[in-house]
Amino acid sequence: MKQLQVELGVRSYPIYIGENLLTRSDLLGRHIKSRQVVVVTNVTVAPLYLEVVLKKLTDYQVETVILPDGEQYKTLEHVETIFTALLEKKFSRNATLIALGGGVIGDMGGFAAACYQRGIAFIQIPTTLLAQVDSSVGGKTGVNHPLGKNMIGAFYQPQAVIADTTVLDTLDDRQFSAGLAEVIKYGLIADAEFFSWLELNAKKLLAREKEVLAYAIEKSCITKARIVGEDEFESGVRATLNLGHTFGHAIETGTGYGEYLHGEAVAIGTCQAADLSRRLGWLNDKDVARIIRIFEQVNLPVTPPKTMTTRHYIELMSVDKKNIDGAIRVIALEKIGRASLPFNVKREVLEQTLNSTLEHSG
Ligand code: NAD
Ligand code: GLY
Repeated sequence: MKQLQVELGVRSYPIYIGENLLTRSDLLGRHIKSRQVVVVTNVTVAPLYLEVVLKKLTDYQVETVILPDGEQYKTLEHVETIFTALLEKKFSRNATLIALGGGVIGDMGGFAAACYQRGIAFIQIPTTLLAQVDSSVGGKTGVNHPLGKNMIGAFYQPQAVIADTTVLDTLDDRQFSAGLAEVIKYGLIADAEFFSWLELNAKKLLAREKEVLAYAIEKSCITKARIVGEDEFESGVRATLNLGHTFGHAIETGTGYGEYLHGEAVAIGTCQAADLSRRLGWLNDKDVARIIRIFEQVNLPVTPPKTMTTRHYIELMSVDKKNIDGAIRVIALEKIGRASLPFNVKREVLEQTLNSTLEHSG
């Protein structure tokens, strides 16, 4: 087992990464400081992993909340379901919430924990690749609104992240590839050497070769933990983790949550951000081709949806947490391995990128 640390002063916490961690009784016990424990999961993950987690919780008063599965259910209504369960069972302020699932469950569970009685402890047990390399780390919690992705939420750090890589065995190939989009992101924004390593190892990653995958997860978590440690509340460098996300969130919202997986939308959005970076004179044609190629190598889409238009994109991109005074702000790549901070993008350049990439929509 590897143990990393997210360094945030009194809010610091460990990330445990390794095989068969769910079968270990010590890890949960180390971080649960209450008798009352609620496990929040969904209808897909519950039959796979709820029992093994509950077996480790026999000494506690345990409630389970099993939510429907899907991005379209990442709503306030379903967070309310968690509140209702907690209130019905008279859970106190010292209770602990365990979020067992992918990023949707992690974001909703974390948000419920942030709000219930103004904040209860929570533990992330991420079960998708995307959640293990990104969403479970850093304390961004929240839900979608029909008018904007992740627009309602809170920064709220967990007590621990327990990433059992064995659970990825049951993840389907499409979801696995979606997780790789965020792994590739770390290479692009912060580590050119890691990006080159990913290019060389894309096939092995896709084949889920153990050592290669373990390295990619650890490397991703190290980068995420470092960036979050530097800028917990996203006043600077943390925004670089949003490379491709402004375009990607527009795709997710614009196509109705669920048609494109988050990682798929991020892959397309990152290719659009790469196009923009080339127009700004930062990337060259070869860089852009490398970026498109790596997403293709791991079976991710690289062209925007046919149903979207430049106008629709711009309307949706106007609702983004990075925007200031209504101006659209994006992250671009100064080079492979270094992202810019968010900046007000000139409407003309944005339109050129959107028009040009939409010509190849698929
Ligand atoms: P997800 O949570 O929808 O999970 C994907 C699918 O895999 C679901 O159907 C889920 O039930 C299933 N699943 C989960 N674990 C499984 C397993 N071990 N075996 C088989 N099936 C399994 O999606 P995701 O990609 O994990 O997360 C995407 C969400 O994360 C988005 O809502 C996105 O906004 C959010 N996100 C948040 C952050 C953050 O910092 N908080 C960062 C990135 C993404
Ligand atoms: N996934 C973006 C962040 O955690 O900041």
